[in-house]
Amino acid sequence: MLIQLIYASSAHPGLSAAELSAIANQACARNRQQDLTGMLVYHDGAFLQVLEGDKLVIDPLYKQIEQDPRHSHIRLIARREIEDREFADWDMALVVTRAFDQTDPEACGIFRDLDEAMSDLSLTPDQAHQALAMFRQGLWRQKAS
Ligand SMILES: Cc1cc2nc3c(=O)[nH]c(=O)nc-3n(C[C@H](O)[C@H](O)[C@H](O)COP(=O)(O)O)c2cc1C
Repeated sequence: MLIQLIYASSAHPGLSAAELSAIANQACARNRQQDLTGMLVYHDGAFLQVLEGDKLVIDPLYKQIEQDPRHSHIRLIARREIEDREFADWDMALVVTRAFDQTDPEACGIFRDLDEAMSDLSLTPDQAHQALAMFRQGLWRQKAS
């Protein structure tokens, strides 16, 4: 069964650009192995992530991610069964804001400024889907390597 899961969290205070790159690279490599796709947005100390894949992979991974000390206050926004992936092209696209311009450009991600609309991450499931769809379709054209 194919599941799409979206959560938001607060990054560990003082998380560095290098640590952010490490998270993205680790996620990319592991997600490719496990046939997971999605997107990780970092904005102003907060994460928003969408993960897609088999239920048997997604649910245990989410439990692991919840325990990860690099972030806290993890809130599950949505978890639903899907027919088709919305992020089929991306192992894990990383989207960061200007504050992290110095992020390793080799990290598997895409680096652009976020729209003001993303500054409030207390989103409803619908808003989260809309925001993620906006990124997927419009702002982030490069495929993660
Ligand atoms: C914000 C954030 C997003 C993450 N996203 C993923 C992901 O998409 N895929 C993944 O395998 N690990 C991801 N991780 C890392 C996991 O929490 C965990 O460290 C990783 O699965 C390796 O765990 P292990 O080395 O203990 O097996 C993420 C961590 C953070 C903090």
